[in-house]
Amino acid sequence: MKGDLSGLRGCEMEKIKKVLVSDPLSKKGLEILGRAKNLKYDIKPGLSPEELKNIIGEYDGIIIRSETKLKGDLIEAGKRLKVIGRAGIGLDNVDLPAATKKGIVVMNTPQENAIAAAEHTIAMILSISRKIPQATASMKTGKWEKKKFMGVELYNKTLGLVGLGVIGTIVADRARGLKMKVIGYDPYLSKEVAEKKGVDVVSFEELVSRSDFISVHTPLTDETRNLIDKNAFAKMKHGVIMINCARGGIISEKDLYDAIKGGKVAGAALDVFEKEPAIGNPLLELEEIISTPHLGAATEEAQENVAIAISHQIVDYLTLGEARNAVNMPAVSPDILPFLRPYLRLGEQLGSFLGQISNYAIEEVLIEFHGEVVEYGTKPITISVLKGLLTPFVGETVNFVNAPIMAKERGIRITESTSDEAEDFASLIALTARSKMEQNYIAGTLFGRKELRIVKLNDFFIEAIPEGYILLVNNYDKPGVIGNLGNVLGTRNINIATMQFGRDRMGGNAISLLHLDVPLPPGMVGEILRMPNIISVRLIQL
Ligand code: NAD
Ligand code: MLT
Repeated sequence: MKGDLSGLRGCEMEKIKKVLVSDPLSKKGLEILGRAKNLKYDIKPGLSPEELKNIIGEYDGIIIRSETKLKGDLIEAGKRLKVIGRAGIGLDNVDLPAATKKGIVVMNTPQENAIAAAEHTIAMILSISRKIPQATASMKTGKWEKKKFMGVELYNKTLGLVGLGVIGTIVADRARGLKMKVIGYDPYLSKEVAEKKGVDVVSFEELVSRSDFISVHTPLTDETRNLIDKNAFAKMKHGVIMINCARGGIISEKDLYDAIKGGKVAGAALDVFEKEPAIGNPLLELEEIISTPHLGAATEEAQENVAIAISHQIVDYLTLGEARNAVNMPAVSPDILPFLRPYLRLGEQLGSFLGQISNYAIEEVLIEFHGEVVEYGTKPITISVLKGLLTPFVGETVNFVNAPIMAKERGIRITESTSDEAEDFASLIALTARSKMEQNYIAGTLFGRKELRIVKLNDFFIEAIPEGYILLVNNYDKPGVIGNLGNVLGTRNINIATMQFGRDRMGGNAISLLHLDVPLPPGMVGEILRMPNIISVRLIQL
């Protein structure tokens, strides 16, 4: 997943950031950390959970591989932690919900070890089909057992791939080179996309019943845990060979043991296990099992690639605010980002304005996107709106990672709508916040490509820049109100930078938005409120 929300955490980026590397990391990655400006790193592999808990609070970022287990209590202890970087793919050693709730960005390197893992899978298929590990072990005991290690060819055999993502696709490509027939099952991929990968897409039932070799390449999720169980084994061909270089637990270890003992499965090649290290695992006692200790990504190239990628990602996030491969925030392609960035800012400023004028707990927010903006993808803007909306209430703890969760926890319902039409503007973002007692509306647009403007506030058409200190005054449309306001601010030496007005009808209800160079001194809101024809006053800070 690619993502990048540059510049969104600007003011946080100034101080020196500290990164802990808590698992071994290739030298090239450390060099990148060492060269980064305003960033220091410590490398401390092999810490116990207690030792890590004692020091994690000092760090802004942590880089891990698979050894460090970042569970809820450790994440809680990471008081300054802003980012967790996994040099590799699997995030089963990170408590993702806990990190997300705390607003910590979690990123991985989803592509960099894929070739290594795919080649390992092919190596496992070749090794098990010719019983190379068993033959090696036998020769090392001084034996010459030619008859015992009769193998099978791969040519014309059917390889069933469960999961056709990055690694499954590379395995398919390599297996076709070995002249295997490749079939695949992946319910999250359209048939057209899967078939472009050169894989004949079939149902799960068909895959398990047709394949001579079955290799799993899915993540471990609630849905894939024990996906291959005794029911699946029952439908397989006699003598099928199983491969798991993805995650332990996708194939039920107990059912695999029984299927091997019962003769249904001729062999299995396992790189990953339900519990790792897999010391004392009964499967390892079986002659039909070949195994490696989670070596799928253990090539020099892959380890260098993941280290380089995660180090760049961490440096860019902590020093520039650019998030790539973040798994818990929305992805924005780098091509789209320059166009989207002003809308992200507009969404955040409109949300913040709306939050600051709300007098009651907001229960529902309707976010309407009109016109050109719809083309750029609206999900990240929705998150910006929520961040802006919640910041006045919850302060700095809300960010682009946890804003949706925080809104949900506060019982705020979010509804989005999109339309290609924007009437008078190229694009328009309109927010309506509802509570039991009131409803507020704000709409904004971009002038040119970058200039943010509020164009409507409740019933009033205006044209205001959503920035700085804004004095929002609701008054009766009577002569003298603006003059009085100017006077009272002038006597306190408060300069008015710009003014915008709107009214519903002559002599009716009116609003004034005054951009001030400085905030109002204490007590001044009350003073303005006591002036004639003033209905309400609010100082907004954006
Ligand atoms: P990926 O996200 O690119 O692909 C996973 C695919 O699985 C996706 O296409 C998804 O649609 C599919 N999928 C999800 N649920 C499914 C289900 N119920 N049935 C069928 N398909 C399903 O991931 P990837 O990079 O290809 O990695 C695959 C696996 O390999 C992951 O578990 C990863 O952690 C593991 N991995 C292991 C090693 C190793 O050292 N052994 C190295 C790298 C990756
Ligand atoms: C991964 O998740 O990237 C692989 O399983 C390899 C590793 O654990 O580093």
